[in-house]
Amino acid sequence: MVNVRLGDIAPNFQTTVSENGQAKEIDFHEWLGGSWAILFSHPDDYTPVCTTELSAVALSYADFQSRGVKLIGLSANNADSHKGWIKDIDALSPNGPNLEFPIIADEDRKVAELYGMLDHLDATNVDKKGIPFTVRTVFIIDPEKKVRLTLAYPASTGRNFPEILRVIDSLQLGDKYKITTPANWKKGDDVIVHPSVQGEKVKELFGDDVKTVYPYLRFTADPSKKQTA
Ligand code: BEZ
Repeated sequence: MVNVRLGDIAPNFQTTVSENGQAKEIDFHEWLGGSWAILFSHPDDYTPVCTTELSAVALSYADFQSRGVKLIGLSANNADSHKGWIKDIDALSPNGPNLEFPIIADEDRKVAELYGMLDHLDATNVDKKGIPFTVRTVFIIDPEKKVRLTLAYPASTGRNFPEILRVIDSLQLGDKYKITTPANWKKGDDVIVHPSVQGEKVKELFGDDVKTVYPYLRFTADPSKKQTA
């Protein structure tokens, strides 16, 4: 059983993707370059929940781009199947942007095996030969190619993509400033002073704007807002 853990370098692979109506070959690490990225799998082409998910991601593509995040989907189907299905996804929102990111054609489950994406739960999530398709995994990968988040949702439940954007916002802010983010935090809300920041460093980094609830729970305003104020 493959186990991709937080902090691992995202395993590399070469594969075929479908992108803007074309099939092409990529090397994953080359494709990543030095960018943030989200690798996400869905069970199967031409399935209802997956169609709504891919449409939702296509519609919020600009939100990922503005955060410098590349997107790459995956299902265990071939590039021709992806190409036809993407037409349905685009037609679902005729006034919205088309799906512009690549989808991995992982018919032989090579990438799915490498990342531990295959379904061991849902007996309906199998191909015609009875071989499991993928579940709804998400891997957030940082510019150093380190895995920063892993998620696995069952085939029956479409994901909440604003939540993925929220995690990106938290990770990017935490990498820039010594902060963490509380439960249900959204971009712009107060953040938490990182527990490693102690003594004189607190004032040096956050000035007088520290609300101490407990010695270990200290809030401060979103530091990115303070800089532009
Ligand atoms: C769906 O996308 O609707 C789906 C795919 C596989 C199993 C169950 C649902």
